[in-house]
Amino acid sequence: MSTLSVDHLLGIKYLKAEDIQLIFETADHFKEIINRPIKKVPSLRDITIANLFFENSTRTKLSFEIAQKRLSADVINFSASQSSVKKGETLIDTVNNILSMKVDMVVMRHPTPGAAAFLQQHVDARIINAGDGAHEHPTQALLDTYSIKEKFGTIKGKNVVIVGDILHSRVALSNIFALQLLGAQVMVCGPKSLIPKYIRELGVIVETDLKKALQWCDVANMLRVQNERMEVSYFPSVREYTQQYGLNKELLDSIGKEIVIMHPGPINRGVEITSEVADSKQAIILDQVENGVAIRMAVTYLLASKIES
Ligand code: CP
Repeated sequence: MSTLSVDHLLGIKYLKAEDIQLIFETADHFKEIINRPIKKVPSLRDITIANLFFENSTRTKLSFEIAQKRLSADVINFSASQSSVKKGETLIDTVNNILSMKVDMVVMRHPTPGAAAFLQQHVDARIINAGDGAHEHPTQALLDTYSIKEKFGTIKGKNVVIVGDILHSRVALSNIFALQLLGAQVMVCGPKSLIPKYIRELGVIVETDLKKALQWCDVANMLRVQNERMEVSYFPSVREYTQQYGLNKELLDSIGKEIVIMHPGPINRGVEITSEVADSKQAIILDQVENGVAIRMAVTYLLASKIES
């Protein structure tokens, strides 16, 4: 397979295992390039990309921008908080105005689930979903699974637990789809109130005891509690959440084996993970961030190759 089966990256749900393999092979190539003294290639010299962020971001926004610049694309950045969205302009009007400036591709983060798919139906550009509400975050899942593959050589047969606020997490859903496509077993672990009822229908194991989950897994992906998406309280207090679902060194040492620790960021140190664990050798959190650039270069490059000139 030398081309993606999709024209846009709206979610992992729309990808085949072969698409992910192609993205990984392309990312391997770009990872080698960005570790050279000259990190830039002229591949996308004729392409203009708009990064539209309607929600806050550090990693995803900067990682896409670096990836695009390493590929020599022209890049414009749009932040909703400083735009005419504040004056009442709609999403479609905003994007069509930006596209009139001859933009070929849009990377969008938006608080509404389905926003990227909605945009794709209404505008003429390649769309990459950089996170749509609690729905999907496909490039995060690609960089997470790429990092697991880099660590173990394969994903097939690995046990991966995703811990924490599954209910409000786009990272969880995209990771579940990607891990299953690549042959991993997936467990989710957290308080019952933060585990959606439909999750078992996806073929995922549900566990509420963190120690049992850690004993089962090869990899634990620790999620942040997404207070910004909660209108009510889902657990009695942060202190009690941390007591039951926070990962600390004592708990990690008690399971009698070494596992890999991941976190998509941003970390709430001392809540879902202690600094001692987050900064330990078992954690590959900064490797995930590094791999994010190569993965986003690969996705951008592969989708740009489908743009008709
Ligand atoms: N992991 C992630 O999406 O981080 P940001 O919200 O900082 O982009």
